[in-house]
Parts: sequence; structure tokens; C-alpha cells
Amino acid sequence: MLMLNLLPPKTCQMADVRHVSRMITLLIATNRPGSNTEKVAAHIVEIYKARNTPLAVIDLHQLPPEIFAATSYAEKPASFAPFQEAISKASGIIIVTPEYNGGFPGVFKYFIDMLKFPESFNGKPFAFVGLSAGIGGAGRPIEQFETLVSYLRGLIFPQTVMVPGIFNHLDEAGRLKTKEVVERLEKQADGFIKFVGQLGKA
Ligand SMILES: Cc1cc2nc3c(=O)[nH]c(=O)nc-3n(C[C@H](O)[C@H](O)[C@H](O)COP(=O)(O)O)c2cc1C
Repeated sequence: MLMLNLLPPKTCQMADVRHVSRMITLLIATNRPGSNTEKVAAHIVEIYKARNTPLAVIDLHQLPPEIFAATSYAEKPASFAPFQEAISKASGIIIVTPEYNGGFPGVFKYFIDMLKFPESFNGKPFAFVGLSAGIGGAGRPIEQFETLVSYLRGLIFPQTVMVPGIFNHLDEAGRLKTKEVVERLEKQADGFIKFVGQLGKA
């Protein structure tokens, strides 16, 4: 994958989508350093690659600091353009989100607030993967985000993958070690690729 002119992340690489027509895009919905979310995301990228469907990756760890200036509501910094473009060009979007205080991370909502409305999510299919340290498996964050997706005119792929007790499912290298979890992710990938294809957006 070509790189954006941004700092390289530890586990996933953001794709340069400037010359790409349409791709399924995975969004890492946290910027917490060393997050388990990016580890799970790296595994999902491999799953899609094995199905000849390379993913573009939007990694919120790489958001430029200047996007957090209050002036960004009115005028986006040039450094945000690749993030907007990756969303605009996505044929489908896989959200990988942790659970923070019973919701999705604040930085994810802020990211959405920085995107163009309504064209960013309009008619786009969304799949969800959630993870948490506790027993919730990010079910609440996913439900909350589904409400936003409906409002923002996106389409929900109903086969969600929730991973409670995430620390039990990662090995020392940060790889998913639980076969059953990997199988659910694989099944979701098969279904989502088909779903996006049926919508004519693959
Ligand atoms: C700010 C914050 C809030 C959190 N709130 C919850 C929570 O409400 N429920 C839960 O099960 N885990 C909670 N966690 C733990 C995360 O689910 C856990 O860190 C998990 O690894 C996913 O987050 P990560 O991608 O940042 O690692 C919280 C973690 C942080 C940093």
C-alpha cells in the first residue's frame, strides 16, 4: 500500500487513496496510543487481503494536531484532506471501535463532525467491529453509532462482531489468538464484501 504523507502507525498503514477509485475502508475509531483496537484492525486488514480485497485504512491516531483547533469547524486544515478523501471514496466502511465509558471514543465523534455533510456517509454501507475490556463488547457504542449512521444516511450491514474481554483474546504479540473470534471476523468479511458488491460499490 502507498503511504499518506503522515507518520507511519505501528500496526496499520493508511493507504494513499488519491489515485484509487473505490475501496472498502477500515476506520480505527480511537487515537489512544497502543490501543487494542489497532491490533484487531491489523488482523482484519489481513482477513480482507486474503480475500483479494485490500482495505484502505483511516487511523485516527494519525489525525493532524491542527484539526483540533476550534477554527477547524469553519475551515479544515489542508492536512485533513486525505482523511476526507478516504471517506468520500470509500465503497463501504468498516468501523473498528473500542468501548470508552459505555460509548464510542470522543475523538471518533469529533472526526465525524469534521467531515462534509451529507455527502460523506450518504448511501454508504457500514460494518461494525467492537471491543472492550469488560463484558459489553462495545455493544452500546455500536448501537449509538448505528443511530448516527441512520441520521447520516448510511446503510447498516447487520452482521456485527463484538469482542468482550479483549485482553483474553490477544497473544503477547498483540495478535488475535481465539479461533472463534477470528472466524466471526472472517464470516463478517465474507458477508460485507458481498453486501458492498451487491450495492454496486465494491
Ligand atoms: C477512556 C477509557 C474508557 C473505557 N471505558 C470502558 C468501558 O466503559 N467498558 C469497558 O469494558 N472497557 C472500557 N475501557 C477499556 C477498553 O475497552 C479497553 O482499553 C480495550 O482494550 C479497548 O480500548 P483500546 O483500543 O483503547 O485498547 C475504557 C478504556 C479507556 C481508555
